[in-house]
Amino acid sequence: TRIEKGGFKHFMAKEIAEQPGVLADAMAHYLQDDRLNIDVDFAGVGRITMVACGTASYACHVAKYWFEQIAGLPCEFDIASEFRYREPVLSPTSWALFVSQSGETADTLAALRYAREHVARIVSVVNVPTSSIARESDLALPIMAGVEVGVASTKAFTCQLLVLALLALKAGVDRGRLDAAALAGHIAALRALPGLMNHALQMSGDIAGVADDLARARDVLFLGRGAMFPLALEGALKLKEISYIHAEGYASGELKHGPIALIDEDVPVIVLAPRDALFEKTVSNMQEVMARNGKVLLISDKAGVEEAGQKTWARLMMPDCSPMFAPILYALPAQLLAYHTAVAKGTDVDQPRNLAKSVTVE
Ligand code: G6P
Repeated sequence: TRIEKGGFKHFMAKEIAEQPGVLADAMAHYLQDDRLNIDVDFAGVGRITMVACGTASYACHVAKYWFEQIAGLPCEFDIASEFRYREPVLSPTSWALFVSQSGETADTLAALRYAREHVARIVSVVNVPTSSIARESDLALPIMAGVEVGVASTKAFTCQLLVLALLALKAGVDRGRLDAAALAGHIAALRALPGLMNHALQMSGDIAGVADDLARARDVLFLGRGAMFPLALEGALKLKEISYIHAEGYASGELKHGPIALIDEDVPVIVLAPRDALFEKTVSNMQEVMARNGKVLLISDKAGVEEAGQKTWARLMMPDCSPMFAPILYALPAQLLAYHTAVAKGTDVDQPRNLAKSVTVE
């Protein structure tokens, strides 16, 4: 079947807008009431090693926080091109988890083949169930995102995050870290996400306004703490991929160890910070930026914007959501910022120069 843009100017815009629907589809596939319908058992698993490239690697990086916080499961992640050559120490009680939209990325597939001889089980999280990575895994979990055409990954990222969140919950249950009430609470938080995403999509106009200014920047910094740190990396990747503006993602706490030297009135700093337990720390990093005349865009919820939004250059007020799964929701403003900035610059959103949707060479 031919995939159409369905009234949108770009596939990327369509795929961003599809997220509430595909996330709900994926949830329907893996959740029956408060039961996790995932055929894995994490009892006895000593460690999880996650491997991927690009946007999928940032999904792994977020999931590391979840596996550790929710399930107390030792967890590492690496980009595939490094993993396969660094002689990683794997053990027979380890599981290796490969995340790939296409399921055909050469480095990820080679990493899978390397891990095959060293770990107990190979699990993959893929969008294409017939792909090489899916076929060579002991278990392939589909993300149900539907065909993704835009080179910059959007709906596949949030669906990858959802499946990884569900895996972390399953690990929490299997390892006796989550009782029924805690599990139900996390599931309710996940079930709320499609509705919250619809709300976030309505902020597209406001985001386009900010993006008109962002389009004039030469460099942009994204900051986040905890599981929002990898989202800062993803926000920066999206922006550079499609708008060709140089962007870096940093852990908020690392700002003072280098990137603060870049700050002046011409460098917008985008702070991804729901009002969670780490908020105060991030706000103090944000103030360090403002003290040096940096232009801060604060993306937070109502409480966060009211508490720390004064004197920032711009603010985006997100709906409240569970702090644990905020990276899934905050992916949307990050994607929309990149999208509208690229549109303002007139770059080729769906087919950015030098990039390919699926990289099947090393
Ligand atoms: C390419 C794409 C990215 C993607 C990466 C990994 O670089 O442009 O959007 O994140 O490959 O692709 P995969 O299909 O393995 O998720």
